[in-house]
Amino acid sequence: MVKINLSHNDPLTLSTTTLVLAVLNDEEGVSVLAPSASKKQLAALNNLAHDLNVTGGEGQFTRSLAPTELKAQYVAFVGLDDRSPEQLRRAAGVTTRALAKTDSCVFGLPTTDVMSLEAVCEGALNGTYVYNRYFTTPKEQIGTITVATPMPRKEANQVLQRAEIITESMSITRDFINTAPNELYPDAFAKQAEKLAKSAGINVKIYDEKMLLKEGCGGIVGVGQGSSRPPRMVRLEWKPRGANRTHALIGKGITFDTGGISLKPPKGMDAMRSDMSGAAIVLGTLLAVAKIKVPVHVVGWLALAENMPGANAQRPGDVVKCRNGKTVEVLNTDAEGRMVMADALSLAAEEKPDTMLDIATITGAAIVALGNRIAAVMGSDDVREAILEASESTGESFWPMPLPTYLRDKMKSTYADIANISNANGGGMLSAGLFLQEFTNGIAWAHLDVAGPAYNEGSPWGQTPSGGTGFGVPTLISYLEDALN
Ligand code: BES
Ligand code: ZN
Ligand code: ZN
Repeated sequence: MVKINLSHNDPLTLSTTTLVLAVLNDEEGVSVLAPSASKKQLAALNNLAHDLNVTGGEGQFTRSLAPTELKAQYVAFVGLDDRSPEQLRRAAGVTTRALAKTDSCVFGLPTTDVMSLEAVCEGALNGTYVYNRYFTTPKEQIGTITVATPMPRKEANQVLQRAEIITESMSITRDFINTAPNELYPDAFAKQAEKLAKSAGINVKIYDEKMLLKEGCGGIVGVGQGSSRPPRMVRLEWKPRGANRTHALIGKGITFDTGGISLKPPKGMDAMRSDMSGAAIVLGTLLAVAKIKVPVHVVGWLALAENMPGANAQRPGDVVKCRNGKTVEVLNTDAEGRMVMADALSLAAEEKPDTMLDIATITGAAIVALGNRIAAVMGSDDVREAILEASESTGESFWPMPLPTYLRDKMKSTYADIANISNANGGGMLSAGLFLQEFTNGIAWAHLDVAGPAYNEGSPWGQTPSGGTGFGVPTLISYLEDALN
C-alpha cells in the first residue's frame, strides 16, 4: 500500500515535484482554489489554468510546469463540480491514478473538516490501486503522497488512520474480485479468508460440502454439485467485549457463474468472476470493523460455490430443501445466488441477530434499473433507511426499491414451496428480494443488490478502478458504526 504523510504547513511553501490544486467550475466561473496563495501567486495560477484551457469540472486533470511564483516543480489542476467531500474524493482518486508514474505529490485541496479530509485521503489511496498479480512487468504506483491540511494534528491523524484501514480493506475486496476464477474457487476463498480473518482477531468456522449436506443446506449443495470444486460456507465472527447488539452480514460468493445447465451466453461471461463480490465485501467489512475495533457484535457469512454445468450439475426442475425447511423448485439454474443465500440467511437467522444485511450481485435486472454506479436496497423499512443514511457519509449511491407482495404469487411452484424464478413480466430485481425474504425468519433485514457497482467493466473514474471496485465496504462499515445501535 502507498502511504500518505500529513503536512500542517501551507502547501504552497512545500517543495515537491507536483502540487495538486483544485479547479472549481460553478456559477461564478472557473477558479483555482488556493486559499493560502498571495495575490500574485493566485493570479499566476489562474493565468496558467486559463492558458492550459483548464475548465475545471469533475474528472479533468491537467499537469504542467509550475509558475515561478511556486516552489513546486509541477502543478496539477484537478477539476471539481462543487466543494462536496464526494467531489474531493473523486478528484483525489483521479490524481493519484494520473500520477502513477511520478514519485510524489502534495495535495493542496480544501480539507478543513473531517469529511473532506477523509474523502481526500480515501480517494487518494483508492486511486493508487493496481492489481499486478498476473503481469510480468507490474503497473506503477505513485511513490509518496502528502496531504496538506489545516486540521489539528491529532484529529487529522485519526482521520488518516481510519482512511488507511478502510482503503486497505477495499483493496482486499478488490483483489478477491480480480483474482482469476481458476485460482479463486470456494475452498481457496475460504482458506484465504480464514487466514486474513484470524490475523485480525476474527473467529472463523468453515463448513465443507459434507457438513453442508448434513446441516440441511440443500440450496448451496445443489448449486455447487455441478463443479469439481465443492462449495463452502464460512462463518466469521467479530465479538468485542461489551457489545450488546448483533448484526449479521451475508455475502453471495459464486466464484464463477456460468449459469449452470441454464448456461449463460459466452459474451462477457468472464465478468462472472465478480459474482463473489458480496462475499468479498462482507470479508473486507469484517476486517475493517475488527481493525477499527467497532464495538458491535458482527457475524459474517460467506456462501461460496462455483456454478458449473458438470455431469452432476442440478437440472431445471430439481427440487431441493433449504436449511430452514422450505423446498425450492430450481426452474433456472442461473438464478443460483438466491439458492446459496437462502441457506446462508437461514443459518444467520437461527442466531437471532438484531439485523441482517445481505449483499449480492444477484440480478442483471438491477443493472437495467439503476446502471453501474448505483446499488439497490430493499427490505425492512428501518434497516433499508439505515443503509441509505449510512451511505450518505461514504459517497456511495444506494436507491430504495419495493418488495410488492403480488410478485410473491408469481413464484408459486407446482411441486415445491417456491420456485427460484418468477413468471411475472419484469421486476426481476424485486422478485429476487422477495425470494430472499422467505429465509429471513422475520428478522429485521435488508437486501443489497450490487450487480452494477461491484465490478467496473468500463474505464476507471474517480477513485474507482476497472475490475473489482470495493463498493459497499464503506457503507457497511458506517452502518455498523452508527445504525440502529
Ligand atoms: N450473477 C447473476 C447476476 C448478474 C448479472 C450479476 C450481470 C452481475 C452482472 C445471477 O446469478 C443471474 O444470473 N441472475 C439471473 C436471474 C434470472 C435467471 C432470474 C439474471 O439476472 O438474469
Ligand atoms: Zn446466475
Ligand atoms: Zn450469479
